Amino acid sequence: MRYDTIITNGTIVNANKTEKADVAIRGEKIARVGKGLAKNAGANGTRVIDAKGCYVIPGAMDVHVHLELPFCGTVSSDDYDSGTKAAARGGVTTVIDFAIPYGKESLQQAVDNWMAKADGKACVDYTFHVAITKWDRHKKEMAKIVRQGLPTFKEFMIYEKEGWQSDDRAIFGALEKCRELGAMLLIHAESSRVLDELIDRHHNAKEMKKLGAQLHGITRPNFIEAEAIQRAVKWAEVTGGKLYIVHMSTAEGTDIIADAHRRGLRNVYAETCAQYLVLDDSLFKGKDGHLYGCCPQIKKPADQARLWKGLKRDTVCVVSTDTCTFTRKQKAMWKGDWTKIPMGMPGLETLVPIVYTHGVLKKRMTVKEFVDKCCTSPARIMGLGDRKGVIKKGYDADIAVIHPTKKIKVDHRKLETNADWSPYQGWPLAGFSRTTLSRGKVIVDNYKFCGRNGWGKFLKRKTAGNL
Ligand code: URP
Ligand code: ZN
Ligand code: ZN
Repeated sequence: MRYDTIITNGTIVNANKTEKADVAIRGEKIARVGKGLAKNAGANGTRVIDAKGCYVIPGAMDVHVHLELPFCGTVSSDDYDSGTKAAARGGVTTVIDFAIPYGKESLQQAVDNWMAKADGKACVDYTFHVAITKWDRHKKEMAKIVRQGLPTFKEFMIYEKEGWQSDDRAIFGALEKCRELGAMLLIHAESSRVLDELIDRHHNAKEMKKLGAQLHGITRPNFIEAEAIQRAVKWAEVTGGKLYIVHMSTAEGTDIIADAHRRGLRNVYAETCAQYLVLDDSLFKGKDGHLYGCCPQIKKPADQARLWKGLKRDTVCVVSTDTCTFTRKQKAMWKGDWTKIPMGMPGLETLVPIVYTHGVLKKRMTVKEFVDKCCTSPARIMGLGDRKGVIKKGYDADIAVIHPTKKIKVDHRKLETNADWSPYQGWPLAGFSRTTLSRGKVIVDNYKFCGRNGWGKFLKRKTAGNL
């Protein structure tokens, strides 16, 4: 049997087992997984990739990214070119962005806008969650959007000024509708009115001068997220709609999800992001504290510990990044007022290295659990589990080869992202992808991007919310 590529000598890691075996690829698919497949391969013109001493993992899926997002008075600076190159270098072979309608736009217009941003540029596969921002109009479009292969919707409890906010009525209604359509609702859970009140209380020159970016943390105590998650979970419970809490950052939020699972609610899921696992709000005290402003903001070490435990126990089912890159110049727009910080950070390139180094090497999770949370569960829950996230015959040949211990110091100047800083600058991290394959094509070789714009395809999905 002739194969195009064989990855040999590595240890294959799937979420349910590790094995020393070869992966044979024909066209875009994994044709076989087994021992000794590389024998005589060279004679057939097959490309042989030696993964000796390395883990061979399914390409990771970052289900929460914002590329070229108009937000906070500017546009996030990683687009489908730099963003998906960064993804590839980080071993991420699928990204899920958010198509967000602006002003009076329909859901369809938002989808068309985001398709246009990705088309011809994306270097890895992609799809979108579709944000509902005007419930009364957008609800009528949901069925049609699902039929186009987009069964995940998003609502934000905050961002009134951006015109994105949804109230309880919209969230309750969207969950009902998702249930009817076999779709899933993603929620940015923060308690908007109380948050506004806390911001107002501290928004004065004296405190801003004294506390600067620390006010970002001070005005978002943990109960802001916890109360909102509690409310969303209740709506999921009574409607039966599938709910996925995005970028969960607090111990309290994790407790609420664990409690929902204990009560038998199987339609409630939560992701966290790499930054909430490893960064804490003491960073706001530094001269560059404003760079770390994201929403929700990074919390405390106790929150990190609870989130890691939540991952271990499957309370938290996915690690993503919420990549929303702003350069130093963009971040400087804050001018000492934390409410004007363009919120978000770069992350795609460092997702796998952060979770691997701080999860697996620090013994907070096994290597199989790491694959589960970065590759397999994201694919399943987002409706791509029949073709992505597993190294198995018939699946897309999306693969990353990572060295288990070799550490590379993060240096933003050497990364593909357009960010001119990194939250992890100087951190030694293992888990950068030595070789990345996207549907059988090598797109990273010897840690360098070698793919091409336009290689990434739009992925149609039928359903979502099944783990
Ligand atoms: O800081 C962040 N997360 N920016 C992107 C918007 C969002 O809430 O996900
Ligand atoms: Zn959000
Ligand atoms: Zn986001």
